[in-house]
Amino acid sequence: MAIKNLIQVKKHLILCNGEPCTLNGANNAIDFLRKSIKKCGLHDEIHTTRTLCNGRCDDGPIVIVYPDGIWYKNVDETVAEDIVKRHLMDEEIVQENVLYIHNNKNINSQSISTTK
Ligand code: FES
Repeated sequence: MAIKNLIQVKKHLILCNGEPCTLNGANNAIDFLRKSIKKCGLHDEIHTTRTLCNGRCDDGPIVIVYPDGIWYKNVDETVAEDIVKRHLMDEEIVQENVLYIHNNKNINSQSISTTK
């Protein structure tokens, strides 16, 4: 059983491991992300949770970063490394893999519609 000190948590990562994302390599990316977070000394301030489907299977593997409201798509180990080094450590959004940003009126709604 784990007891996380939530007062220290700055960001929460939702890591999709529904079946389609898993078939696209989600578990490798998730393992890499979690190891990198620990290796970079971010374990206390970054909380991660595996979830089942987040409703965007065609864009998976999906990783969502809160409270920033950033949905990342096609997260493999390379993107996972970018998320840790750029987003979590440097507060830089990994633009090339953004699927959606909550409350961002400038995002291309075509890219997030239910029909492609
Ligand atoms: S399984 Fe990941 S979005 Fe559906």
